[in-house]
Parts: sequence; structure tokens; C-alpha cells
Amino acid sequence: AVGGTVAEPKVVSAAEPLLLNAARGKEVDRPPVWLMRQAGRYMKSYQAICEKYPSFRERSENVDLVVEISLQPWHDFRPDGVILFSDILTPLSGMNIPFDIVKGKGPVIFDPPSTAADVEKVTEFIPEESVPYVGEALAILRKEVNNEAAVLGFVGAPFTLASYVVEGGSSKNFTKIKKLAFSQPKILHSLLQKFATSMAKYIRYQADKGAQAVQIFDSWATELSPVDFEEFSLPYLKLIVDSVKQTHPDLPLILYASGSGGLLERLPLTGVDVISLDWTVDMADGRRRLGPNVAVQGNVDPGVLFGSKEFITNRINDTVRKAGKSKHILNLGHGIKVGTPEENVAHFFEVAKGLRY
Ligand code: CP3
Repeated sequence: AVGGTVAEPKVVSAAEPLLLNAARGKEVDRPPVWLMRQAGRYMKSYQAICEKYPSFRERSENVDLVVEISLQPWHDFRPDGVILFSDILTPLSGMNIPFDIVKGKGPVIFDPPSTAADVEKVTEFIPEESVPYVGEALAILRKEVNNEAAVLGFVGAPFTLASYVVEGGSSKNFTKIKKLAFSQPKILHSLLQKFATSMAKYIRYQADKGAQAVQIFDSWATELSPVDFEEFSLPYLKLIVDSVKQTHPDLPLILYASGSGGLLERLPLTGVDVISLDWTVDMADGRRRLGPNVAVQGNVDPGVLFGSKEFITNRINDTVRKAGKSKHILNLGHGIKVGTPEENVAHFFEVAKGLRY
């Protein structure tokens, strides 16, 4: 120290996770990488937990199990993002919408709302009361991952949640939600409004507990024509983003809208930081159509992971080249499929993490 003063030891804070830098448009030396549904049934370690704990709700609502499952891909593949193991339907339990996720069948809503009186009964979501295990799990994940990767939270988009809830589960033809949208739109709007304010709250809660970026899944936006997207999805996405940005301006928000090739020019209007593309859009076209202000995520076809290692490598290289040298988070165009060889997932991460711009 000069002049006899003793310098305080500098607290060296860990560098920001790569994924956050890419989401914010900062310079990075490679695209960060994680995979949607990276924790799940393609993993033998997850299958073992499913045998011991056959109930999805138990696996996703018990803090120790949530942490253990979220960390399975972290231990095996070291992704740049560690997503909370949960489900977009999890908050419904706190909104007076009883549900279950049944093996072989998927989500089941026991008493699907269809009238104004039913929607009236949907209650406001108070995360700290209804899903305290989510906050506890995120706090533990944040410690465990220790900024070597970003801890990711997520929520369902209002229209996608409304689709499950009104249809009573997964749907092939979406007739119930369309009937409601096109004959009694006011009822649907009041449900969407409730989901939007609740999900804004839920994102804040997740961020306060440890999530460093949050992805919004609008998996059923693909069902909407552009004019209907503008009426039934976009305003509510925007409401969520505006509301969260007021209190958490630096929290990167990622939007995944499945089948959104026909909507790309509209997606940046939501105000999110990152747009996650599915594989039906060429990455170079997507980049051009989305404009320079948002980052992109994606968009390798999940089916590619069933190809040879060489094929997987080529597709990664193609996507990364087309995405350009910044503002790209490498990912699949949708979740990993059941049956994907774990060694191919390992190869995907190995190749991705070895890339340099
Ligand atoms: O990405 C991750 O690793 C985090 C975990 C995660 C799950 N669901 C766990 C899960 C995430 C991000 C979700 C989000 C989710 N849930 C979405 C949006 C993403 C997408 O795929 O479009 C949707 C639409 C749901 C609703 C949902 N949950 C469905 C349709 C199903 C049944 C799927 C099936 O094939 O059975 C679920 C159950 C579910 N959620 C599973 C997992 C790993 C599979 C069932 C199980 O593991 O027992």
C-alpha cells in the first residue's frame, strides 16, 4: 500500500454468468447453452426418482426433490442455465384451480371453468403462501450453482395457462378455448387478466428468491392467428413484462412462443429481452425479422439429438453461425424428447461449450 495506508481486501465478486451477459447483449466469447426440459424423463437418474416418487406433484413440490432433480443435468452436463424443476401449472394450486399431472395422460384440470361465475372463483395467487417450496428451492439452487451458471425460473403465459385450464388438460383441437374466445371473449379476458397479474407476481417472487432470468412459456401461441394473438396473448405478455420491469428492470425475460413463425415481428412488442425460436424458423431469418434489439435463443430441432454425433455437431455449428456473434443463447427449439440418448445430450453440451467466437 502507498503512504502507509492499508488497503481493504477487495471483495472479488464472481463474474456474472455467461447466460446473463448474452441476454443483456454484452460481449461473450461463446454462446451460453442450456436445454428446455433438460431435467426429465430421458435421464436415467430422473427415472429412478420417478420410481421412488411416482407423483409428479410430489416431485415438483418437495424442496429436496425439486433441488435434486434441477441439479441432475447440472451435475451431468454443466449447462450455462439451471432451470428450476417445476411446471407451468404449479401455481394453479394457489389459484383455486385443482389439477394433477397424470402419467401417460399429462395435465388434468378437475373442474375446468367455463362461465363468468367459474372465472370469478379463480383467486389471486400469493406465491409465498401457496408455493413456498419454489422460493426455498430457488434459494438453494442459487447457492449450489454459485454463479457458475444462471439459475432460471419460469412461468406459463396467460393464454397457454388459460388453454390448459379451459380445455381441462392437453388438447388437440382447442375447441373449448376458441369457443370461449370467439363467443364470450369478456370471460376469457377476465381469466387472462388474472393470470397476467398473478404471473407478474410470480416472476418477481422467483427473482427475489434467486432466479437470475425467467422464461415465459407461451407454448400454445401457435394456435392463435396473428389477429387473435394480438387480442388474447400479446397484451397480457406486455402487461407482465411492463409490470416486472418496473420493479426488476435488470432481470432478463425470455419468451418462448411455440410455432411463432407467423408472429415474429410482433414478439419484440412484448418488451422481453430474449426471444426463443422454435426450429421451424431458420435462425438467420429469425434474427433478421426480430430486429437488432432483442437477443435470440434456440433453435435446434430436438429431434436432432437422435442423429449421429457428427450430425449434431453440424447442426450446432449451423445455428451458431446464423445467430451471429452476440445476443444468442444456444438451446433447442422445444423441450428434449423422451428417449433422447443421454450421451447425445452430453455431446451437445461438450461441442457447445467448446465453441469460441
Ligand atoms: O425445462 C425444465 O427442465 C424444467 C421443467 C419443466 C417441466 N415442465 C417439467 C415437466 C418445464 C419448464 C415445464 C413447462 C411446461 N409444462 C410447459 C411449457 C414447455 C413446453 O413443453 O411447451 C408445458 C406446456 C407444460 C405442461 C405439461 N407438463 C405437460 C403437457 C406435461 C406432460 C408431458 C408428458 O409428456 O407427459 C407436463 C408434465 C411434465 N412437466 C413433465 C416434466 C419433466 C413430464 C412428466 C414427468 O416427468 O413425470
